[in-house]
Amino acid sequence: MTGENKQQNSGLLGWLLFVVGFAGALFVGWVVFPQLLFSTKYQPINYNHAIHQEEAEMTCEDCHDFREDGSYAGKPTLEMCIECHEEPVGETEAEEFFISEYVEPGKEVPWISYTKQPDNVFFSHGAHVTLAEMECTECHRNVEKETEAPPVKINRLTGYPNEIMKMYVCEDCHAREQVSNSCDVCHK
Ligand code: HEC
Ligand code: HEC
Ligand code: HEC
Ligand code: HEC
Ligand code: HEC
Repeated sequence: MTGENKQQNSGLLGWLLFVVGFAGALFVGWVVFPQLLFSTKYQPINYNHAIHQEEAEMTCEDCHDFREDGSYAGKPTLEMCIECHEEPVGETEAEEFFISEYVEPGKEVPWISYTKQPDNVFFSHGAHVTLAEMECTECHRNVEKETEAPPVKINRLTGYPNEIMKMYVCEDCHAREQVSNSCDVCHK
């Protein structure tokens, strides 16, 4: 091998190492790191919003409504599902699983929240939905056409779901709408 050739080869090797290193960094950044940061959880049963809108002709308020004291009930309990699912309504595997695992033993479904805030944050649906007349989709994903509940990404560092509304999002809207942003409005 001549000296010149050697130099060319090591130049090539350098490039190769650079390219491999670069691809590796991208892999770590795009694929490995997010997986280290988030764990993915699935709902215990696949809740199908679309089928209940279309076939059962239910409204959102049938399942997500205010209690008599004005607080928001969040997710429905098994009691209301049983109004229809005491016996199978259809023939799908999803329904069969729901009935054998939860309805028959009388066990509440442990739904995973996409939006649950830390305990020190105070949020009220009454202020936003009733007083400010906001649509659910201003703050939540659109569930109307969903035939499958999407997986929930949980941030391993904070333990909170990825989708929870960040403080700056609350504050930006409050600033636009001239609602107070003093700490004690949202932190009790
Ligand atoms: C038959 C009861 C039922 C009806 C009707 C219903 N939902 Fe739900 N909803 C659920 C259940 C059960 C969950 C939990 C599983 C999931 O997230 O898909 C849920 C979850 C949600 C969530 C996610 C909450 C979170 O964890 O952040 C939103 C937002 C929501 N529903 C909005 C709506 C809207 C808007 C409508 C009307 C278009 C509606 N729902 C109709 C039962 C219902
Ligand atoms: C007003 C009646 C009614 C109520 C209340 C109701 N459902 Fe249903 N549900 C239906 C109908 C109708 C279907 C469609 C059955 C079919 O055609 O396969 C269905 C289907 C389902 C399925 C199968 C979905 C699929 O993709 O195959 C599941 C699971 C289910 N319901 C869970 C629930 C849960 C959980 C609740 C309570 C939060 C609930 N349902 C409340 C009427 C109801
Ligand atoms: C201004 C933003 C905003 C609007 C508008 C809004 N939500 Fe929410 N929603 C939130 C926040 C924030 C939480 C979490 C509250 C907490 O953890 O204290 C939440 C929680 C929920 C939950 C409970 C999820 C759980 O953890 O079990 C449901 C169900 C829900 N919202 C449904 C709705 C529906 C249906 C509408 C429309 C009628 C609506 N929301 C409108 C911001 C909003
Ligand atoms: C898209 C706009 C918007 C977003 C996002 C929003 N808010 Fe609000 N918020 C409002 C408006 C408008 C009001 C005033 C409602 C009224 O009194 O008419 C309000 C009122 C409130 C109130 C009651 C204030 C009082 O003095 O009674 C609290 C508490 C609150 N918001 C907390 C939050 C938190 C926490 C978040 C984020 C998780 C949030 N908001 C996100 C628009 C928003
Ligand atoms: C409009 C509502 C709102 C106001 C006003 C607000 N916060 Fe927050 N804050 C939140 C929400 C929602 C979270 C949780 C989500 C997040 O971490 O972004 C949060 C999280 C925090 C956290 C992190 C807590 C944790 O558990 O990780 C601190 C610290 C904090 N806020 C301090 C403040 C201080 C100090 C002020 C006043 C200068 C303030 N906040 C005003 C909504 C608000």
